Amino acid sequence: MPNPKKTRHRTAKVRGESVKILISGRQIQRRIQALAKQIRKDFPGEPLHLVSVLKGGVFFLTDLARSISGEVSFDFIAVSSYGQNTRSSGQVRLTRDLDSSIEGKTVIVVEDILDTGMTLQYLLRLFQQRKPKHLRVAVLLDKPERRITAVHADYVGFTIPNEFVVGYGLDYSERYRNLPYVGVLSLVPAAKKESMGA
Ligand code: PRP
Repeated sequence: MPNPKKTRHRTAKVRGESVKILISGRQIQRRIQALAKQIRKDFPGEPLHLVSVLKGGVFFLTDLARSISGEVSFDFIAVSSYGQNTRSSGQVRLTRDLDSSIEGKTVIVVEDILDTGMTLQYLLRLFQQRKPKHLRVAVLLDKPERRITAVHADYVGFTIPNEFVVGYGLDYSERYRNLPYVGVLSLVPAAKKESMGA
């Protein structure tokens, strides 16, 4: 478990950015244990196939997969967006498909965050066509204020406010994914940066 003092230290200002802890690593791990138990309880004795969306969902997938008892397999998919306003225009496209068929399998889509819902809407349509036995969704973070689609997650780690969050897979310009906690990112104003000698 991360030492809170050390994690605070790791939020030191970098490039005029600061990260304030929103959900600690310990809270995340405890919640994942509970989600894993719930998932196994819902599908007792059944092989579960976890599908994670690169890249952000990777840490959640690895921790969740190790916490679910019984038979578990997993696979990865990657999607991208066309142009700048992809999410709002609904233009999600597949950039890496799954390695294996999901037909007849009990599939849990594992996502780090459910934001507008465009990614999940695209994935659920795609996966439904492939005839899984069951199709469920687990998200670590749910930001309902941002939703522009009708999708919902069956398993939610934490419902969070509409803040820019990083850590535990979530990035800002590819940075911060490796933080063991989820934090709110703030950009430090230039003037303040100067006075801090940043
Ligand atoms: C993030 C996240 C989800 C998606 C959710 O991925 O991992 O896949 O956004 O947003 P939505 O609900 O608005 O569709 P991102 O595109 O940032 O890629 P990444 O996982 O590689 O960081």
